[in-house]
Amino acid sequence: MLRRLFTPLKIKDLEIRNRIVMPAFGLAYTPERKVSQKLLDFYQARAQGGCGLIIVGGVGIDFVGGGPMMLGIDDDSFIPGYEKLAEVVHRHGAKLFLQLFHAGRYQFSFLIGQKAVAPSPVKSRYTKEEPRELSKEEILEIEDKFAQAALRAKKAGADGVELIGSAGYLINQFLSPITNQRTDEYGGSFENRARFVLETIEKIREKVGDDYIVTIRMSGNDFMPGGNDNEIMSEYARLFVEKGLDAVNVTGGWHETRVPQLPMAVPPGAFTYLALGIKRKVSVPVFTANRINHPLQAERILQEGWADAVCIGRAQIADPEWANKAKEGRFDEIRPCVGCMQGCMDRLFSGKPVECLANPLAGYEGERKIEPAKGKKKVVVVGAGPGGCESAITLKKRGYEVELWEESDKIGGQIHLAGTSPGRGDFLRLIDFYQHELARLGVKVKLNKKATAQEIEKGGFDRVIVASGASPIKPNIPGIDQDFVHQAWEVLKGEVELGEKVAVLGGGATGVETAIYIASQGTISAETLKFLFLNQAETPEKLYELCTKGTHQVAILEMLPKIGPDLGVATRWVLLQELKRLGVKTITNAKVVEIKPGEVIYEVEGEKKSESADSVVLALGSVPNQELAEELKKAEIEFEMVGDAKEPRKIIDAIHEGFLVASKL
Ligand SMILES: Cc1cc2nc3c(=O)[nH]c(=O)nc-3n(C[C@H](O)[C@H](O)[C@H](O)COP(=O)(O)O)c2cc1C
Repeated sequence: MLRRLFTPLKIKDLEIRNRIVMPAFGLAYTPERKVSQKLLDFYQARAQGGCGLIIVGGVGIDFVGGGPMMLGIDDDSFIPGYEKLAEVVHRHGAKLFLQLFHAGRYQFSFLIGQKAVAPSPVKSRYTKEEPRELSKEEILEIEDKFAQAALRAKKAGADGVELIGSAGYLINQFLSPITNQRTDEYGGSFENRARFVLETIEKIREKVGDDYIVTIRMSGNDFMPGGNDNEIMSEYARLFVEKGLDAVNVTGGWHETRVPQLPMAVPPGAFTYLALGIKRKVSVPVFTANRINHPLQAERILQEGWADAVCIGRAQIADPEWANKAKEGRFDEIRPCVGCMQGCMDRLFSGKPVECLANPLAGYEGERKIEPAKGKKKVVVVGAGPGGCESAITLKKRGYEVELWEESDKIGGQIHLAGTSPGRGDFLRLIDFYQHELARLGVKVKLNKKATAQEIEKGGFDRVIVASGASPIKPNIPGIDQDFVHQAWEVLKGEVELGEKVAVLGGGATGVETAIYIASQGTISAETLKFLFLNQAETPEKLYELCTKGTHQVAILEMLPKIGPDLGVATRWVLLQELKRLGVKTITNAKVVEIKPGEVIYEVEGEKKSESADSVVLALGSVPNQELAEELKKAEIEFEMVGDAKEPRKIIDAIHEGFLVASKL
């Protein structure tokens, strides 16, 4: 069925076993800037899992370019690490490229102890810092370092190198008129802006010869006002290929762009058209990337001719065996990347090693194991939210006899709520995955089953896991018991009808997502938008209005000075942008003191104010459901706690805890 995906890809004389590429990921697994065991274990699993080509990096060509969190390749002492990596990747039949990296003005001065360098001193919105302009001598030195790095990669046995010319890093900075304001031979015109890359390619070729594979990763469109679009990037790609590059890996825009690149709000394969734009201009293989998750989607991209290979990035973090499972048609067994970024980008931005919400083993391949069960054999897991489901499947894999009891009529718990808001629907893929795995593994799932200590005792279980989740808080605010006040959970479940004006109390993640859900009601669908656009039925301005102006006016009242403080950095700005577009009013430092028919009374710095509201929605956090735990304690039945039942946290915490508790039982 996946005819194209599993057809080998040839780049010059290099044959790659399929068209599945693991693109470069800064993982923060290498505190010494050298290949570590953690990194080897991570990539071994992906090579073993059937991936065709693994691109490792960014590999900083020097400390200023790469900084302390990335891999380095500054001198020959780095080579042995890459030799090991090449050996591991090759042993499992995959090919290896190293991505040669220089951040330019995207480097943070606190990381390198000096100002970042760039073609011109143009402040970046990403670092909020102004870099230092490179002298001509320094530019030549960086070109030389790229060439030396390529030679070291070759000596180490990597099959090729990829230059990073995407995401707004140094190469992008030379190519863009926004960041390259030089008046010498490296700036001022299309040709001059290309000079740095062309000279770099020439120097690399001098070192590694004509046969070695040298490629580039490019932003298909910078998505920066006044920057390079797909047309111009295609022209640059053509120029670079003529100069001697062997493939072009096309992704989306810069870190600074206001167009989201990674979160689940990005439709699957949304940027594949950028690869096609470049593919039309070059004769070498073109890769495409971003939010390609399902094997059939990947196959269709190839069959329809958008690109020659697909980068399956986070989806291979979520499931190292993505390729093998795809090949064997075991699509439902693939742990899905939902684009939440909780484990990857959010952690990387806070300087922590990459993990994955959907896969508790990612980054722990050498440490976390699923060992066969010892001794006691029969377990009940109470609560089929993410933590309970993960515990149940882990225990079953270990050989336990497992029952999963759920009080409601379906598994998934709060994932249903997380996946309700527009652009958050991918969360629901986790439920599909667990549903399938529970059935495949033979976990006995009992729905509509309320657990009591007595029932558990009757079941004769050797071990008990309590994953009974949490319930929403209802604080003691005067007027809170009126019939126009609802919990966000009820709203997201579609259980209530709301008035025109809605006040959401609480601006944390749930409040923000609920506000987006409500404010989107009455906006047109993607299909209607396409229909109206193609038939030129409305002006672009009117279409924008139809996409953003719904049937409710929504206000969020938050006690803290900030909206969404519990949202990850990589997602927060996207959701705040969405609130703004939908016209959601945000009121911070607001302490709600009373709810009256038609209005909410709140205080800001002691001053009483009022916000009119026909309906009030509570998103004020949750409390653990611990009645069962208390009962079990009284009955002296031993148990373990998992997820929100212990302490309300994020889905990633519940899944990881579910795994860890089950793997140690
Ligand atoms: C945590 C994280 C680190 C990344 N680091 C790099 C990098 O160093 N170099 C690069 O070219 N892309 C990097 N990317 C982008 C990925 O290679 C990939 O293009 C992106 O995740 C979109 O593809 P996906 O939706 O298949 O994951 C990174 C992405 C994430 C989430």
